[in-house]
Amino acid sequence: MEYTTLGSTGMEVSRLCLGCMSFGTSEWRDWVLDEEESREVIERAIDLGINFFDTANMYSMGESERVLGTVLDDYDRDSQVVATKGYFQMDEDDPNSGGLSRKAIEQELSNSLERLGMDTVDLYQIHRWDYDTPIEQTLRALDDAVRRGQARYVGASSMWAHQFADSLRTSEREGLERFETMQNHYNLLYREEEREMLPLCDKENVGVMPWSPLARGYLTRPHEQVEETVRGETDDHAREHPYYEGNGYEVNERVQELADEYDASMAQIALAWVLDKEWVDAPIIGTSSLDHLEEAVAALEIDLSESDVEWLEEPYEPVRVSGHE
Ligand SMILES: NC(=O)c1ccc[n+]([C@@H]2O[C@H](COP(=O)([O-])OP(=O)(O)OC[C@H]3O[C@@H](n4cnc5c(N)ncnc54)[C@H](OP(=O)(O)O)[C@@H]3O)[C@@H](O)[C@H]2O)c1
Repeated sequence: MEYTTLGSTGMEVSRLCLGCMSFGTSEWRDWVLDEEESREVIERAIDLGINFFDTANMYSMGESERVLGTVLDDYDRDSQVVATKGYFQMDEDDPNSGGLSRKAIEQELSNSLERLGMDTVDLYQIHRWDYDTPIEQTLRALDDAVRRGQARYVGASSMWAHQFADSLRTSEREGLERFETMQNHYNLLYREEEREMLPLCDKENVGVMPWSPLARGYLTRPHEQVEETVRGETDDHAREHPYYEGNGYEVNERVQELADEYDASMAQIALAWVLDKEWVDAPIIGTSSLDHLEEAVAALEIDLSESDVEWLEEPYEPVRVSGHE
């Protein structure tokens, strides 16, 4: 496994972060693994040297955090880097179980820690921007959480670059913990982040950990077969994303062609492309299969030539913003 320093945290993480949205309970989404199968994938990831895990309170409505915490409890907690997130409403009858008010953050972070069975999470991220709470209040609540020892670092996820820049300036001005990481939507078929967000992260030395690096499976098989898996058929979220726009079919076909040339899978080529981007620290991979996990780790060995990178990128045209509002 390769390791890298996450932004300016000084913390070393594996170049692949294991996304835990696929773990928890199939009662939440048909394609999510239940506890025992989730355990197998998480344990194999640790065997392969992965030390970086991303979950969220809303994945399987808390079950993802509980399962991850239970598995990691059998290992040396100090050697793992655990990230979770809050923002989405956890109880439909309780509006304060979502958002980024001080009340929501304090309650939801405590609930996450309890499910994870941990006193401290390494990275606590805001899952989305809260238009109803001033960012200064959110940052103060997060700063207090760090002072209390409940989180080591704080991070953010999909938002506009101007909002992220505002957050960073507010932290600097008020002497508060700043967002050390950006978890954004980025893959060969969604490159809008290259305009503003990624150069901003680069300039500020913010760690970048993109989500859905394989476009939720769209980049792992020929486009005609995308709906042939349970997730491909039922993941409404994937359909809302503009993967078919911006010449998505042609990009998908070029990934197929390069996979043949490199004697690799399409997933490996798509992942090698993300890993080739200097502003990326660790893509968050989502898999429910041991074989796919092993393929992802093997993709670290693939070195795409500059001309192949250009060829893969060439057909892309701008698409609708996807991942935030
Ligand atoms: N911050 C946010 O708003 C946000 C949003 C979405 C996701 N995330 C994070 O990002 C993580 C990854 O997201 P994602 O699951 O959408 O990621 P992804 O890696 O883009 O897509 C995962 C899909 O690709 C398939 N796949 C992976 N490797 C494959 C291979 N070698 N061959 C064929 N199919 C393969 C998986 O199928 P199998 O299960 O069969 O392997 C799964 O259906 C999540 O777990 C979560 O932690 C964050």
